[in-house]
Parts: sequence; structure tokens; C-alpha cells
Amino acid sequence: MQLSFAAPTAETSGVWVVGALAGGQLSGAAQRADKAAGGVLTRALKTSRFKGKPNEILEIIAPPGIKATRLLLVGLGKAEEFSASRAEVLAAIVTGRLITSGESQAVFEIDVPKGSKLKAPQLAAHLAFGAQLRSYQFIAYRRKNLDDFEQTLKTVTVATTDAAAARKNWQSLSAVADGVTLARNLVNEPPNVLTPAEFARRTKALAKLGVKVSVLDEAQMKKLGMNALLGVGQGSENRSHLVVMEWNGSRKAKAPVALIGKGVCFDSGGLSLKPGGSMMGMKGDMGGAAAVTGTMQALAARKAKAHVVGIIGLVENMPDGKAQRPDDVVESMSGQTIEILNTDAEGRLVLADVLWYAQEKYKPSAIVDLATLTGAIIAALGAEYAGLFSNNDKLSGQITQAGKAEGEPVWRFPMGPGYDKMIKSKIADMKNIGGPFAGSITAAQFLQRFIKDKTPWAHLDIAGVAWQDGEQKPLIPSWATGWGVRILNRLIADNYET
Ligand code: BES
Ligand code: MN
Ligand code: ZN
Repeated sequence: MQLSFAAPTAETSGVWVVGALAGGQLSGAAQRADKAAGGVLTRALKTSRFKGKPNEILEIIAPPGIKATRLLLVGLGKAEEFSASRAEVLAAIVTGRLITSGESQAVFEIDVPKGSKLKAPQLAAHLAFGAQLRSYQFIAYRRKNLDDFEQTLKTVTVATTDAAAARKNWQSLSAVADGVTLARNLVNEPPNVLTPAEFARRTKALAKLGVKVSVLDEAQMKKLGMNALLGVGQGSENRSHLVVMEWNGSRKAKAPVALIGKGVCFDSGGLSLKPGGSMMGMKGDMGGAAAVTGTMQALAARKAKAHVVGIIGLVENMPDGKAQRPDDVVESMSGQTIEILNTDAEGRLVLADVLWYAQEKYKPSAIVDLATLTGAIIAALGAEYAGLFSNNDKLSGQITQAGKAEGEPVWRFPMGPGYDKMIKSKIADMKNIGGPFAGSITAAQFLQRFIKDKTPWAHLDIAGVAWQDGEQKPLIPSWATGWGVRILNRLIADNYET
């Protein structure tokens, strides 16, 4: 689907999308459309229950007297409540309605409602963003009935008074949309295709954008003492990898922000094998790594004036004669020893070494890790919020703000010595599971043991939001959500750019 921006024209062909405020009051463009089509909208308003509520749609096919093939009147809601995220959802819903409808082009002519704080070029760019996110498709593995999936809608034009300014806003937003697409693709890929090696190979494409990509293999990790990470992968035929993606777009090469991702390309549970039902979807257990990769691509593509390093630990957790056992003890890169009591609590083992490596190598000014870490976070928050755990109120505040702004909200959980006690081991420095309670918090306490004092650190448990099994959200027409790219990009944009 092609997106473009242009000044409004007198004659519109294709689908003409115009807006109405709460109460059914026609916008300027809607009034023009109505007049050109002999008052068809006014008449339709009288006989329908359309109220101009957010995202309500009134559709008129083949309207008389005008070139347009359809008129779509969409509800904008109350002017003072109209926002960038409302615009995104609106564009997504309209795009979803049209994308396989047989129509090939649409023109969005949505005026800024009087009383809204949005600027016209901003509104235009966010309409494009919503349309783009909604046009995502993952059909790489379909061979039959491809006609049913064909997107007939080929071009969307956003009609706006200052098209040049809109294009400028769109430059950075389209970089973010592409980052979300990359993250979704990685999560949707099946695990027989997206092995740790294949994931690592795909990150190399970021070099074209100026990202420095380097990959460590098992021998190199062994030398560094990453036995916690390597232990997870030792039962798999697929070798483990660690990928570092560094973007330095700021002239003053300050300490970077480190973004860390759990990249378990498939989590069978290992010898503590998951039951079959719980294993389904575990190809997505690399959602944290996917979000970090998508973010790095977005930052580079929009030339963010920031120094950011993305580091992902890529492994497969499998049962095998060589697999790690419950009762094993491993020595992590940090020197701390870990008693493995459940091989299915593997994400924290991977992150332990990646977090330590990040601090040793890059001395980051802040660390944010993303991981599909615990089922317990789904029990607590469902698919609405990700869990936030942190040793730093300021960083927590920044992340909470970024999440709110981007529609990827987070909820902070408590941490403390009482929870930390729950991972004491009988024979090693710690064990890799807590008790039956507070499972997401004891996992976070485990991670914190690999954070050097005073380094601002936040952990996002995204097990509930990395993919969707329930109702589809308007901006996310796919199992994989791409969750994390938007919040991380915004965190950097608002707080770490020079
Ligand atoms: N990858 C899972 C967490 C998960 C569960 C993500 C469901 C998405 C959906 C993680 O590796 C895991 O298995 N965690 C265990 C930890 C337990 C053994 C302490 C869990 O949550 O059951
Ligand atoms: Mn697991
Ligand atoms: Zn896992």
C-alpha cells in the first residue's frame, strides 16, 4: 500500500473519507462532499443512527453526481477529545474496512476539529501511521486462496493543507511503523525458520542504515563465561548467538542507553517440559529481542540523535541428552552461581549474562530489558498492560509516560528484599525460581542481581502483550503485535536525544 500526502482537490476519485463530529455535525470536507453529491450525506444522516461517535462509519456506495466510488463518513467524537491516537485508530478502522473491499484507492480528508490541539500536519501523519500499521499482513507461508488475502487498496492519500509539513512528520513515523513491521515479522516467523542463527543473520540488514552489528558465537560466549545463557541452549541442535546492534547518532559519544531483549526462539521448557497446550505460541518467546531489533531499525532509519546499543540473547530451549537438568548449577559471567531448579525459567538465565555483558562492555547510562518472562504477568495484567519493574523512579516515570503516549501502557510492580529472599538457594548464590507466589516479581529480583548498583535499570515483562490470542486490536491485524517498538522509540526520542 502506497501512502502519500496532497492538498485537497475539488474532485476526489476512489473512496472519499470525510469526518463528522459528535452529534453528527459534518466537517468542512464532509459538507463539500454532501453538496457535490446532492445532499446524500444529509439524507443518510436522517435515516441512520450515525451519531459521529469515535470510529463510527456511514458508508455510501456509488454516490450520485460525483466521481468518488464511495463516501465514507467517519465519526470523530468530541473535538476536544480528538487526538493523534484517535486519528491512528480511525485510519486503521477505515483501512481495515477497505483493504480487501475491491476498492483500489482512498483519500482521507479529515479536517482538524475546531477545539482540538492537534496540528494539521501531525494529524495527517498519524492518519498515515494508523493506515500503515493496519495494512500489515503475514502471508509468507500461504500458498492457496491467495486471492482472498489480496489487498486491493493500493494507494491511500491523506488530503491536507500543508502536505510538505505532513511528509516531514511522516518521515520519522514511517520509520517507527517499519520497525513495528520488522518486530511483527520476527515474532510471526515459525521456529523451524527463525532459529537463533537465522535471527542473527536478519539483524545484519540493519547495517545498511548505519547500525554497527556484531554477532558472538558459542565459542566467544564460552570465553566470556556466559554459562547461564549457554546452559539454556545446550539441549538444542541450533547454536546460540548474541547480537549487538549499536546506533550512535549523537555527535557527543556519551554512554549509551542499552536495550536488552530475551530471544528464546522456541521455549519447549527444556527437561521441565511444558505441556503441549502451553508450548503453542512459544515461537514468540523472542518477542523482547524482536522489539529491540525493530527499535534499533526505527532509530537508525529516522537518524535519531542518540547513542543506543541493542543487545539480544538468542537461544532455543529444548530437552535432549545434552540438555541442562533441574539441579544443575551454573556459574554466570558475573561470577554468581545459579542453581537451576526449573529449566523452563530460562529467560532470566539468558538475560543474566546479557545484562552483565552490556554493563561490562558499554557502561550504559540506563538499561531497559524486554522479555516474555513469566506466565504470572498474564495472570496479573492480561493483554492490556506490560509489567514494569525498576530500581529507578525517574526511568520508571519516563517509561510510563512513553507507554501512555504510544498506546503501549505499563504498570509498575513493587520490588524489595522480602521478594529477593525468595530466590535463595540451598547450595548456590541463588536459584532460578521463587515460590508459588509473586512469580513475576521474583523473576525481576533475579534479574536485578545482575545489575550493578546505581545503574538505572527497568525490566518490562511483555509475556501478555507480545502476541494476541483474544480480540484483535484496531492497529494490530496480526498475532504478533510488535509491542515495544513504539514505547522504546518514544522513550529515546523524549529523553535521550541531544
Ligand atoms: N516464556 C515463558 C513465559 C511465558 C508464558 C510467556 C506464557 C508467554 C506466555 C517463560 O520462559 C516461562 O516458562 N516461565 C515460567 C517460569 C516458572 C517456571 C518459574 C512460567 O511463567 O511458568
Ligand atoms: Mn520457559
Ligand atoms: Zn521463555
